[in-house]
Amino acid sequence: MSAPAQSGAQSHAVPRDRYAVIGNPISHSKSPFIHARFAEQTGEPVDYTHLLAPLDAFVPHVRAFFEAGGRGLNVTVPFKLEAHALATTLSPRAAAAGAVNTLRADAGSIYGDNTDGFGLVRDIEVNLSTPLKGARILLLGAGGAARGVVLPMLERSPHSLTIVNRTAAKASELVEQFGAAARTAGCQLTGGGAAAVEASAYDVIINATAGSLDDALPECDERAFGSGTLAYDMMYGAQPTVFMQHAQTLGARAADGLGMLVEQAAESFFVWRGVRPSGAPVLAQLRQMLAGSSAA
Ligand code: ATR
Repeated sequence: MSAPAQSGAQSHAVPRDRYAVIGNPISHSKSPFIHARFAEQTGEPVDYTHLLAPLDAFVPHVRAFFEAGGRGLNVTVPFKLEAHALATTLSPRAAAAGAVNTLRADAGSIYGDNTDGFGLVRDIEVNLSTPLKGARILLLGAGGAARGVVLPMLERSPHSLTIVNRTAAKASELVEQFGAAARTAGCQLTGGGAAAVEASAYDVIINATAGSLDDALPECDERAFGSGTLAYDMMYGAQPTVFMQHAQTLGARAADGLGMLVEQAAESFFVWRGVRPSGAPVLAQLRQMLAGSSAA
């Protein structure tokens, strides 16, 4: 999907503010579609395109975009760490995540935020009607994707959060990093290798490993999945991921990360425009498009 069309009289009357998603690769990105729908929905004069940056030239591309009047960028693979380093001011959630997916040009500075965790929490709580307050949560993975969602989840005051990773030491590092935030939230935060998974059903299990990219299941005690469990894979595709299929076989409800993608975009839109679009109708459209592409 390319840039949103600037058709009709309105585009001549109202100069549009320029935004883009920057990454490598980028042509597959659904963000231009999502933000075009948000602009229509809210009436905000937003023009949103995609930008391919060479792997060694992220920073000059960002600077050129802002110098040419661009107002904000979404940042995707593999540049979220570089965006974190580039930002002159960071939101607390971006600082905790150690990664930035949203940049905003402010007068004389570049503001960096991370809306991924907010998007996950909103998708689970609003679109999937599953409250995190008081919940027992299992987070599989301890890479960048996992780290980005820990603080927003803790802020919902779950009963407990267990972080489990193939490389146990990385999970333990996250437990240490977020210990104070967990105490503030009244949440029991534990973690380690696969042995840290408790042998009873969790309320929510989140797959934040990169396993689904190559159809690999992260190791996890099957007793963690029950009929009351929401098993959430941050990945998405036309077909359910192997993790989702596995969870469904064990009686759990499964969801993919398409809603997280839409809700992180809605929060970025809010960071830029101060107006919050509604994610649900755009999610429904994307879901239909995905189903159509798998049938084609
Ligand atoms: P991302 O930014 O997507 O999180 P990352 O920082 O490279 O990428 O982290 C990838 C995560 O997926 C890690 O938690 C990784 O486990 P290790 O720390 O042990 O490498 C996890 N992962 C990747 N492939 C996996 C697999 N086949 N089974 C289990 N975990 C896997």
